[in-house]
Order: sequence, then C-alpha cells, then structure tokens
Amino acid sequence: MRFKKQMGVEDTKNMWSMVATWPFSLQCVEKGAQILRDGGAAMDAAEAGVRLVETDETVDSVGRGGYLNAAGELALDAAMMDGNTLKMGVVACVRGFEHPVSIARKVMENTRHSILVGPHAEEFARKMGFTEADPDYLIPKNVWKKYEEEKNKRKTSGHDTIGCVALDAGGSMCVATSTSGANLRLPGRVGDTPIIGSGFYVQTGVGGAAATGLGEDIMRTCCSFRVVELMRGGMSPREAVETVVLTAHNTLLQCGLRPDCIALVCMNARGETAGACNHQGFSYACVSENEPPRVISVPPIIDKDA
Ligand code: GLY
Repeated sequence: MRFKKQMGVEDTKNMWSMVATWPFSLQCVEKGAQILRDGGAAMDAAEAGVRLVETDETVDSVGRGGYLNAAGELALDAAMMDGNTLKMGVVACVRGFEHPVSIARKVMENTRHSILVGPHAEEFARKMGFTEADPDYLIPKNVWKKYEEEKNKRKTSGHDTIGCVALDAGGSMCVATSTSGANLRLPGRVGDTPIIGSGFYVQTGVGGAAATGLGEDIMRTCCSFRVVELMRGGMSPREAVETVVLTAHNTLLQCGLRPDCIALVCMNARGETAGACNHQGFSYACVSENEPPRVISVPPIIDKDA
C-alpha cells in the first residue's frame, strides 16, 4: 500500500485490465481475467496466464516446445516486474524447467538480486522446490524434427515472446515475459525478453510495456522503458507505443542497420491498452473489466518489408 500511495495511486477500486502479445496469449488473458475479476493480484494473474502459454507445446517460441539453440538445448528466458516496488526477477538460459516465469518471480521475491543465469538459475530453481521436467515432455518429437531440418541453414527465423502487462482492481501493475529466444541462437545468447527497459518495464500509477520481435533490435533501442516514459509524459498508450516503434525503426535505419521485427504492447494506469509493430501479422490479446477477452490485429506503423 505504501508504494502505491507514494506513486499517487488511490487505494480505491479500479478497472482491472490485461494485455499480452500474440493471439496465443488469448488463453493468458482469459486465465488472468478469472483471477482479476475475483479481486486477485496483477502478479498472480500475469504469472498464471504466462504459465499456460509456457505449457502449450503448440506455441513454438515460448516454454515447452519452444525453439532450440544451436546446440539443441531448450534454454528459456523470463522476467517478472512489480510496478509497485520496481523490483524485478529475471532468469536467462534456464534448461530443464517448464515454468521460467515462476522461477523469475522467486528471484524477485526470495533473493536480494534481480538476475540469475544458466546453471546457477537452475540450481536456484531446485533449491526453491521446482522439479525438473522430463526432457521428452519439454522437447516433443516435432521440435527435434524441425531442429534437424533447420540446424545447418545459414538463415533462420523465429523469435516471438509472450509479454503481458496486468493491472488489478487495487491499481497495482506488473509485467511478465517469457520466451525460448531466437531460433537456433548461439548457446548463451540472451535477447530482450529478460532485459529491463528493453523487453519490459512497468511502474504502478504510470503504465507498463512489453516487447516481442528480434531481441537485438529491441535492446538497441530500449523500447519498453521509452513507451512507459512517454505515457508518463502524457501520451496515450497508442501515441506512446507507435512513437517508440517508429523511432526505433528509424534509428536503426539511421545507424545503417536493417530493422528486423519490433512489436510492443502497453497499458496506462487506467487500464487502456494499445499495440504497435513495424511488420505485417502482429496481433495481441486483451481483456478488461469492461471488455471480454479478444484478439486485436495491428496494422504496421511502418512496414520493414515494404
Ligand atoms: N524477443 C525474443 C528474443 O529475441 O529472444
């Protein structure tokens, strides 16, 4: 409560709301809505929603069934950030566990640190009571088949993320993100998803944002923090997210780079949401006290392939 008062958030009933990247997040916001409707906490809604997508083996870029790295490992990245305290928990390159988002939450809540990586994050997960999942469950046969077909290709694609922003009826905001990272990445490579300010940012009373796309480009342009700062400055979610995607795209061009996919979702402290992208085919899922769960298609603000 103290944190929310300091941030100017009244302790009254607010409209709850949730937004998350890609149509596969419809199940995430539906789950979150069940929790938020009953007065549950934004952190619990976001974590429970993201866990569903991590378990869904048909989502090829998050959790179980996700893209393997060049060494044939499923090494997962995830983050949670509490908008009341600005505390965050991050894990990167975690192997053998189904729910990196829950391990990230434990980092935030049970340590004095923010980021744990690789084998040390795995050791921490075991200490926190997480059980390792069966390798055949985490990496189904079709994933191995695709890996064998693609592992020697010079050019590969695939790098999507679930990034979810939630606001509860008490006014608290949080972000949760999770990804398997880019397809056939070098072992040890980490993208934007667990990087504060790039893949995610949130402050209760201001707003939150989360990104999906090629991590290298999103990190170069610190997209999520910039969206939140523009909302702090008075922009609507739509103005803020479109400005950031356009600026990031043009900045990369000015620096002689060819922008890859960049897409973001965001929410302000009133629960209003928006998304923007620089490529065809992006959509996001959202739900609020006033609107049922739905998927919204986003026309590109600028098209990287045009
Ligand atoms: N956006 C996910 C990644 O690049 O790893």
